[in-house]
Amino acid sequence: MAEELLIPENTSKAETYQALIPQIKALIEAEKDLIANLANISAALKTGFNFFWVGFYILKNEQLVLGPFQGPIACTRINLNKGVCGAAFQQKKTILVPNVDEFPGHIACSSDSKSEIVVPVIKNDKVEMVLDIDSDQLNDFDETDQKSLEVLMALLSNSIE
Ligand code: SME
Repeated sequence: MAEELLIPENTSKAETYQALIPQIKALIEAEKDLIANLANISAALKTGFNFFWVGFYILKNEQLVLGPFQGPIACTRINLNKGVCGAAFQQKKTILVPNVDEFPGHIACSSDSKSEIVVPVIKNDKVEMVLDIDSDQLNDFDETDQKSLEVLMALLSNSIE
């Protein structure tokens, strides 16, 4: 497949997800390497929505360790009981944070981050990693992001061997 992403312009967030998800699905179906796929998913979401930061934290030795991402450098290790990432890991569910300053225990990798969504990637009932997206706008994530990103993370989970 051509290494080019087709992103519709001047359209709604839902339509952008609708356009992006099949393209990302095709990318990850064509490649078995997990790191390559996480890197392309991060790049596709960053390019598609111009989010401030998009990346993965992967479970390794009882910590969430920074994986492929797009954006400014970030915290490298998160304890499982810390931050929004730790909360999504422990609760095994998506966490939407409209205002990071109001989330108890939020880990500020950048003071420019204002709102956040974290989606766990669950395989065989176990959280293997989380997708973390930060915005420099308050209240930037909603149910459309949650539903679309959960669909995408289910596709990713299916691709993990
Ligand atoms: N804010 C996250 C930490 C990771 S950075 O946002 C990239 C958290 O509270 O878990």
